[in-house]
Formats: sequence, C-alpha cells, structure tokens
Amino acid sequence: MLSALFHLARPALFALEPEQAHEITLRGLEAGLYPRGGRDSNTLLQVEIAGLRFPNPIGIAAGFDKDARVFGAVLGMGCGFAEIGTVTPKPQIGNAVPRVFRLVRSHGLINRLGFNNGGQDAAHARLVHQRTWQHGEIVGVNIGANKDTVDRAADYVAGVRAFSDVASYFMVNVSSPNTPGLRDLQTPAALDELLGRLMQARSAATGGKYRPLFVKIAPDIAEDDLQAICSRLEVNAVDAIAVSNTTLARPGLDGEAAASEAGGLSGRPLFHRSTVMLARVHQLTGGRVPLVGIGGVDSPEAALAKIEAGASLLQLYTGLIYEGPGLIGRIKAHLATATQRAGAQSVSQLTGTRSAHWAALPLEG
Ligand code: FNR
Repeated sequence: MLSALFHLARPALFALEPEQAHEITLRGLEAGLYPRGGRDSNTLLQVEIAGLRFPNPIGIAAGFDKDARVFGAVLGMGCGFAEIGTVTPKPQIGNAVPRVFRLVRSHGLINRLGFNNGGQDAAHARLVHQRTWQHGEIVGVNIGANKDTVDRAADYVAGVRAFSDVASYFMVNVSSPNTPGLRDLQTPAALDELLGRLMQARSAATGGKYRPLFVKIAPDIAEDDLQAICSRLEVNAVDAIAVSNTTLARPGLDGEAAASEAGGLSGRPLFHRSTVMLARVHQLTGGRVPLVGIGGVDSPEAALAKIEAGASLLQLYTGLIYEGPGLIGRIKAHLATATQRAGAQSVSQLTGTRSAHWAALPLEG
C-alpha cells in the first residue's frame, strides 16, 4: 500500500528540481503526512551501542533533516534513530544552485550543497521545543564547521557545547567534500587535535551525562592512510565510526548526463566502495569500535550486506528518494528473518560475519 502510494507520487516529485522535491517532502512530513511505522516489538532488531539502546538499527543519514524540522516524523516512520544536521555554528546559504543532481538510471545522486543550514541556535530551539521525542528516543546531532572559519576545530567544539543538553550522540562530520579543506581534518595529527578538544569540551559541557561521539569518514581516504586514521580514532576513544560520506569518485555512471557535475556521489553507485571501506575499518579496528554503515543502502539485501560487512547501525538517504519510505519496513522485516534463520538472538550477531570477504575486494567494484 505504502509502496503503491509512493510509486504514484514519485513521477511528480521527479518532475521537480531535486531541492524543490526535498522541500515538499519535508513540508509533508512536518504536516504529519507520513506512514506510521508502529512500535518495534521485535527484540531481534535491538542494538545497544555506547549506552544507547536502538529499537532497530535503521536511521536516515545526515543531510535529510539539516535543520531539525522532521526528526519526529523520521522516528514515527519506524526508524530506530534520527540524525539532524550537518549544523554549523552560524547559518549559511551554501553553494550556488543548481547543486543537487539525480542520476536516475544508476539510482545515484550528486550534491554540492555546502552545508546550507539555519545554524545552531535555530536547530537547537526546534530540538528543545519538541521534547516529546525524548522518551528514550535517539536523536543525534551531526556537527560541522562554517566555510569561512579559520579555526575549524573551534566550530566543532561550539557544536558540542550548543547541543550537549539535547543530543543523544554527536556525529562529527569531517568528510563532506563540499567545504574546501574540511577533509584535511581526517589526517591523523588533525584528528588527534580535534578529538582532544572535543572530548574535553564534552566532559565540561554535558554535566555528567555521557554523550557518545561518533566520527563520519569519507570513502576516498587513501588505502595507505586508513590504518593510521583508524588507530587515531580508536586511541581517542570515539564511540563509533560512520563509513561513509559521499564520494568524489565516479564509479559505474556510464552515459549519465550529470556524472561530470562536481560534488559528492551517493546512492547505489556508492554501495560497493563504501561497503569495502566499512569492512576494512572493521578489520583494522578488530570489531572493537561499533560502525555505522552508510552508502547505497537501497534494498533489504544491501542492508544485510552492510551489517555482514561490519555495521552495527545503518543509515540511508538516497535509497529513500528512489524507493520511498516503505523501504524502512522492508529492511526491518528482512533483517529479522535473516537473524532468525541464522539462529541468532540479535541482529548484532550478524555484524561483521563477512567482513574479511568484503575487505579483500578492490575498492573499484
Ligand atoms: C548528504 N550527506 C550529508 N552528510 C553529512 O554528514 N552532512 C550533511 O549535511 C549531508 N548532506 C547531504 C545532502 C544530500 C542531498 C545527500 C544526498 C547526502 C551524506 C549522507 O549523509 C550519506 O553519508 C551519503 O548520502 C551516503 O548515503 P546514501 O545516500 O547513499 O544512502
């Protein structure tokens, strides 16, 4: 039923510019026009990470709800958690339009939005206003830096301070390709400095309440650099690593008109690269650091593959554009069945069961 409705609406949404279609989707969600996912009664799907109990491992990735407008709807549709942002300290308009491009044949998307958002104060006010979600529901805050900031780390510190009373966790986004120089924060020395300052800010700001800190990395990190980066993330005791953000690579886009647009590629063409990276991070960290698998999850099978490659949690965005909200329930059903078939008590027991296989594959699939 849900899928049928989405497939009726999809041509109308796809006739619009991608950003317009997104705004209409957000307004629909704000107006309460969304399918209710119902409570998760299936304990097979519960996942516990960094002291947080996720009713199921599916979330919508950052960029969908940059300004904290629809996190209640995201949870209401059946996601196990929501994430808002990326939020920067000051509001900013982002890059010139057009800046989002559909790659319909390959089920991909290229964006070069550049952290367009209304800033910390506006997002914080919305989170405080809608405290109704706080009955154990998980809403993470994805933080970033303004384009014109010289001391980028200071912007992340400001993010931790500003949201410490409302964020279930922080997602430190050092991997957007659309803010020049931002990805330099992924070098081992820069990570040490940034994470040192963030951990200090967190202890000072959260008044004793533990706020887990996750770090989101790019799928374009050079193979030779990955080990050192993973080691710095682990030594600095991050609570989880999210793999991955969008890619600057352009795999498998033959004949797509928009393939040469600048920006980050997401969706199905990102699936292989991001899953191999995820598995390599799982191997390099020996399964000791929980991972959030992101990139090209657009089917129940892709979701299961990410978990087997090493993910404890999943996030998706582009898959929702092509498949609609019914995808969330289909993924949950498939994961529950796969868990039962494996004779496992929890989906977590499937995490990393095929990470050696995935890690050995070349990045270019
Ligand atoms: C994103 N993504 C993103 N990530 C992030 O950390 N902060 C952000 O503000 C955004 N903004 C954003 C906008 C748009 C239009 C897209 C498509 C993506 C990246 C996103 O969270 C995710 O990492 C990638 O899109 C890969 O997942 P999917 O889309 O392949 O499921």
